Amino acid sequence: MARQLHLGLFIYPGGHHIAGWRHPSTPAAGVTGLDFYRTAAQLAERGKFDLFFVGDTLFTREKDGRFFGRQAVSNLDPVSLLSTLSSVTDKLGLVGTLSTTYHEPFAIAGKFATLDHLSAGRAGWNVVTTWEDRASLNFSRQQAMPKADRYVRGREFVDVCTALWDSRGDSPAAPARPIDHRGESFTVAGALPVPRPVQGWPVLVQAGGSPPGLEFAALVAEAVFTAQTDLAQAREFRLSTHARMARYGRRPDEVVIMPGLSPLIGATEAEALRLERELADLVHPEVGVWMLSENLGFPLYDRQPDELLPVEAIRAVKKPTANADMLLTTAARQKLTIADSARLIARSRAHHGFVGTPEQLADLMERWLREGACDGFNIMPPYFPEQLTVFVEQVVPELQRRGVFREDYEGSTLREHLGLDRPSPGRFQRMLAHVPA
Ligand SMILES: Cc1cc2nc3c(=O)[nH]c(=O)nc-3n(C[C@H](O)[C@H](O)[C@H](O)COP(=O)(O)O)c2cc1C
Repeated sequence: MARQLHLGLFIYPGGHHIAGWRHPSTPAAGVTGLDFYRTAAQLAERGKFDLFFVGDTLFTREKDGRFFGRQAVSNLDPVSLLSTLSSVTDKLGLVGTLSTTYHEPFAIAGKFATLDHLSAGRAGWNVVTTWEDRASLNFSRQQAMPKADRYVRGREFVDVCTALWDSRGDSPAAPARPIDHRGESFTVAGALPVPRPVQGWPVLVQAGGSPPGLEFAALVAEAVFTAQTDLAQAREFRLSTHARMARYGRRPDEVVIMPGLSPLIGATEAEALRLERELADLVHPEVGVWMLSENLGFPLYDRQPDELLPVEAIRAVKKPTANADMLLTTAARQKLTIADSARLIARSRAHHGFVGTPEQLADLMERWLREGACDGFNIMPPYFPEQLTVFVEQVVPELQRRGVFREDYEGSTLREHLGLDRPSPGRFQRMLAHVPA
């Protein structure tokens, strides 16, 4: 059988396009209510998606007293949301983001063990160290922790969580064997009040892009979410992830690599392009320039929108993040103006954008899979639920016809959907033994 795609639905209130919530078909006022999420999750399950993914937001984007970002007012708590969705779905994996920088391992291990039990083995944890420094202000810290330190803490955090999940052994009736962890960041002498998760551990997901982030993913990640826009670079990324994993004694089949893909789908190319223009017209110009300034860490508010993006000046001020670097390279090569760059970032927040027909999208997805650029995609509909419905009704059947996507779920747990082993107790500590000091 041909290698199979894995599909995630990356949900974002109102859609991934910055103006998605303004599209007439989007129930913008409903993005804090259960109906909106239930509709999306049940649609994803109808499309046999592996998983439903939700991010976290530990700060709100505010400037001069105005909120620009949708998440400022509408990002629900991931684990509470997923726990609720576990009761209205049967097979769909449920992946939530929680930060290792701003939480404690005992509480997080308990939350995900609970979600895994309630969902009968469908939980996943996107382990982040939090990209936004301003989050520290909401957690009693004036200064953000340096990135390298965040990842050292992250590693110890996962070490403690896995030890807690493992400490009950595999029998629900087994007595708790308290752990006795004394480390740099955490001292934990106890046992979880929840039996070992159905999946052993929730599926561990990672999405960091910096060098320490990539290293962390090589050790921890069973699924990697990443922003890749170019097939050759994506293939390189996948191979380098496998190479890094080998240093921890891990095999390539122990990870599923899923780049983000934000498809805008029309019945014909002309219709897709019309939808693209319609969405672009819905973006408020100030919002576009604000997003760009935030993303690049460089204020562009007072410049003319038709000026070329000052790529050199931006690079001179600070080293760009991996995503910003990709955008700057494109802007320099294509001589993009500030307004052009703002539109580009607005379209998909630097993830892979696509505009076209279901067949063209299936061509792209099949090609990336066959050429080893990915193991699947995290689908990021530009607006909900209309574009997700089109994907499920028109793209999924096309992928099935081509024999690269399941006709139905074969297993019940997220690990089974992703083809991942159930970890034996102590696996993480055995891997840590490979970690260079
Ligand atoms: C698909 C995807 C989703 C992400 N979701 C979150 C999130 O919800 N919360 C967060 O703090 N970071 C999120 N990130 C960012 C990364 O996980 C990571 O925190 C960020 O890249 C900073 O780490 P780095 O410095 O190693 O790049 C996401 C990244 C990707 C590719």
